[in-house]
Formats: sequence, C-alpha cells, structure tokens
Amino acid sequence: MQLLATVAQVRERVRTWHAGGERVALVPTMGNLHEGHISLVEEARRRAQRVIVSVFVNPLQFGPSEDFAAYPRTLDDDAGLLRRAGCDVLFAPPVEEIYPDRGAQPTMVTVRGLSGILCGQFRPGHFDGVATVVAKLFNIVAPDVAIFGEKDYQQFIIIRRMTLDLQLPVEVVGAPTVRAPDGLALSSRNRYLGAAEREVAPAIHRALHAAIERLRSGDRDFAGIESAGWRALAQAGLRPDYFAIRDAADLQAPRPGSAELVVLTAARLGRSRLIDNLRLRLVG
Ligand code: PAF
Repeated sequence: MQLLATVAQVRERVRTWHAGGERVALVPTMGNLHEGHISLVEEARRRAQRVIVSVFVNPLQFGPSEDFAAYPRTLDDDAGLLRRAGCDVLFAPPVEEIYPDRGAQPTMVTVRGLSGILCGQFRPGHFDGVATVVAKLFNIVAPDVAIFGEKDYQQFIIIRRMTLDLQLPVEVVGAPTVRAPDGLALSSRNRYLGAAEREVAPAIHRALHAAIERLRSGDRDFAGIESAGWRALAQAGLRPDYFAIRDAADLQAPRPGSAELVVLTAARLGRSRLIDNLRLRLVG
C-alpha cells in the first residue's frame, strides 16, 4: 500500500491505473478506522481492481462548537488496518492540500432542500462542508465508484443527489451499517462514550427497531410512532435531536407511493452525538 499526501501524486497514480483499463474505487473517510470502514473497503474491492481510501478530517464540516480539534487522528493504526484490508493507496493530505488558499473555500456545494433538514437543522453548514469536500475528492481522485456507509444515511442521500445534479461520472454506492452485537452502530464517535453511556447507547437501535416493527405491522400513525421513539430514547437517558420517519429515496415525508421508508434518529449522550437509522421496504 502506498501512502500519498498530494493531489498531484494521487492524480498520477489513478491516471496510470485508468490507462491500464483498471476500475478505481474511492472510500472517503475521516480516519480513526474501525470494522465499519473496513467493510466499505471490502465492498470497494468487490467493485473495482484498485482501492483508494482517503483519510482527511475536513474542517469545513465541523461547526465552531464541534469536535474538530479533538477528533481522533490515528493515521498509523489506520494504515495498518488498511494494509491488511487490501487497500492500494491511502491518500492522507494535509489541510493545505485540500484548502490551499489559507483555508479559504469561497466555492461551496449546497444540496438545497436536503442539507437543512434532520441533522442539518442541528448542524448548520455541516452538509455543505461534506458535499464540498466530497466534490473535491471526486475531482482529485476521479474514481469510477465511491462507497459510503449507510449509517450516515442523510449524508449518503445528499452525496448521491449532488453527484447526479453535478453530473459527476462516479457511481455512488451505499454499504450496510456494521453493528456491535448489542445493536449499537459502529462509529468513531463511540469512543467518546464512558462505560455507563456505552450501556445506554444500544437504546437507539432498540427504539428504531420498535418503530420499524410498528410500520411492518401496518401501523401508519407516523407522528405516534415518532413520539414513542423519542420517549423511549429520553427514558433511556439520551437527549434526542429528532426521531423521524421519511421516504428512504429523498428523505421527504412518506407519501402513499413510497416504496421504502427510513426511520432516522440523532441523540446526544454525554459529549457524543450518535446517529442511526433503519429502513423498511414496503411490499405491494
Ligand atoms: O463520513 C465521513 O467520514 C465524512 O463525512 C466524509 C464523507 C469522509 C467527508 O468528509
């Protein structure tokens, strides 16, 4: 595995692969990798001959009171995991390489309608930062396919929409959430949880699961199901930002023709903000 830090190096590497007719997959990450990320690399390997994983803690997607400075940076450990997972290139640029104009980025990508709802209401500007850096990574790496975890479901939908709207020649693929045995979705931010909080955290998966079961049984009292989910989280000791049922295709309110629903939540626990979701395909 090669460790590359500059845009020029990564462009040259991909150019030679493409010249040899090889398909290239990108897995964008912020590092502090765990099993969930490795499952994305495995998916990338199934879909392309070459795999690039980017590790870049993107300042543009953190709010002023968020954890940019504290975000765990573990490049040596990440490199070890990626080498074993069969990654070809680890692209870990310094901030100046992605934002060369002394950090300025006057050009931003906004996916209107999607960026301001759900998590976007609680993290203003977050998804603009995500969409902008992902558009830049797509332009730098020029992958044929890019893999994103479905745990960040709103992020996945936003990136898919951005790629479509900007006509970027990249196939955007979502990969299933990897969970601990007690249901907690794996996340780099789980490492902020103390032992007692870690015991409480699986309540998120239980609440989502209960909502999905009500939907599966034919219950369409969306508001009632959402408030029951909210209450379950609050009773377990979490502070929910939202608990919402949406159409899985576009995150709008469910409509009679919706083919798939998604139940999404974000809740605070100690100093962590945890997000998760579950989907339900509607038959008939
Ligand atoms: O999901 C993440 O780790 C980040 O939001 C991403 C997609 C790498 C963009 O910085």
